[in-house]
Amino acid sequence: MEYDLTKEGGNDPVPLMEQKGRNTIQEETGNIRLVYYGNETLKRVAREITAIDDALVELVDSMYRIMYRSGGIGLAAPQVDISKRVIVIDIQGKKGPSFPLINPVILESSEATEPYEEGCLSVPGIMRDVIRPVEILAKGVDMDGNEVEFEAGGLLARVLQHEIDHLNGVLFIDRLEDHVRKELRPELKKIRKLNREP
Ligand code: NI
Repeated sequence: MEYDLTKEGGNDPVPLMEQKGRNTIQEETGNIRLVYYGNETLKRVAREITAIDDALVELVDSMYRIMYRSGGIGLAAPQVDISKRVIVIDIQGKKGPSFPLINPVILESSEATEPYEEGCLSVPGIMRDVIRPVEILAKGVDMDGNEVEFEAGGLLARVLQHEIDHLNGVLFIDRLEDHVRKELRPELKKIRKLNREP
């Protein structure tokens, strides 16, 4: 089984956009926008979320919109300059699920690892193989406040690990070998400047 979101009972996380009956892509994203490599929030350990309030619902909506508009399959709040522990994932295009996850934690990781080519909306234009555990046991809280615990493998495990890294101030390029990261320096320098554009 590649993933089972209902393993420990609790509600199946429902894609927020469906819950709210809204269009998946809207024009407005409010003041929320993507930030890029070099931004300070991306380097910080994000704060735990303590309440599921309107502000959080709005944040998650905005994150979905930005993710869809940018063609991403996962997004973490620090990528929109909000230092809070919430992520959104949508891998329906790869026959996977779509769901937001609050305060996600990796409980266990398989010893087996594999390389897989990753990219990141905050590090546009760079794709590199990153080695990570193949399977994980994860938990978090859904938008109804239910704790969910589930096993993930394949692309879901990959995206979860990448997004949870963001909550801990880690980018996928931080997991590359030193010589690979050195090669990327000129490109990273250009990406850093994207933060200054209006
Ligand atoms: Ni990313």
